[in-house]
Amino acid sequence: MANILEIKNLTKVYKEAQNEICVLNDVSFSVEEGKFIVFIGPSGSGKTTLLNLIALLDKATSGSIIFKGEDLTKFNENQAAKTRLLDMGFVFQFDALLPEFTVLENILMPALVANKKAKAQARYWLAKFGILQLANKFPPSLSGGEKQRAALARALINKPSVLLADEPTGNLDTQRKEQIFKDFAQTAKEEGTTILMVTHDVHAANYADKCYKIEGGKIQEM
Ligand SMILES: Nc1ncnc2c1ncn2[C@@H]1O[C@H](COP(=O)(O)OP(=O)(O)O)[C@@H](O)[C@H]1O
Ligand SMILES: [Mg+2]
Repeated sequence: MANILEIKNLTKVYKEAQNEICVLNDVSFSVEEGKFIVFIGPSGSGKTTLLNLIALLDKATSGSIIFKGEDLTKFNENQAAKTRLLDMGFVFQFDALLPEFTVLENILMPALVANKKAKAQARYWLAKFGILQLANKFPPSLSGGEKQRAALARALINKPSVLLADEPTGNLDTQRKEQIFKDFAQTAKEEGTTILMVTHDVHAANYADKCYKIEGGKIQEM
């Protein structure tokens, strides 16, 4: 399988007043298409920084991020926004579903922004994640696990080639965590979506195709 993503000599230094902190120090790795990749590291190890760089929400100090053959670090704001909307999906620790819209409407939101019709696709994901019966409910009436599955469906609605997940289970109990990890692994396997998830939860390693440790500015395969 081809590499969908190649991180080459990526460095991120934050400067604050007199201090400089090197959060990512010359890291390189490649991601094969359709794999579920997990990065495990403690709080403050640079997990969010890594995802923000790939998502083009932050700028690298040096290095390159080759996504489908193009260097994302060279993208302008327009290209970045388009790539984020059409080719990347995002899941965060908190579901960020809009409470005044139904679950189905929430899931359709990114498709609406992209001017795509996706109702059938939304129902497909709802059924796949076992929450089709919740389509017309409002998010505040859902459990934490159900909300995260709805957030996952929303992240996938525009059929992105890569899904970026930042501590998506940080707010869930053990049983619900495992369900989410399984949903991710299944999505990579069956849909061919490449998934990069960062977490401090070592159990995630059991579900991943490949697992990296992120610590002290370095990223190493586990
Ligand atoms: N915008 C910023 N400015 C300065 N320092 C930052 C900024 N964002 C993150 N950091 C620092 O970079 C380090 C890594 O942060 P982060 O990527 O959020 O870690 P994690 O997600 O693993 O908890 C932390 O020490 C944090 O304080
Ligand atoms: Mg973080």
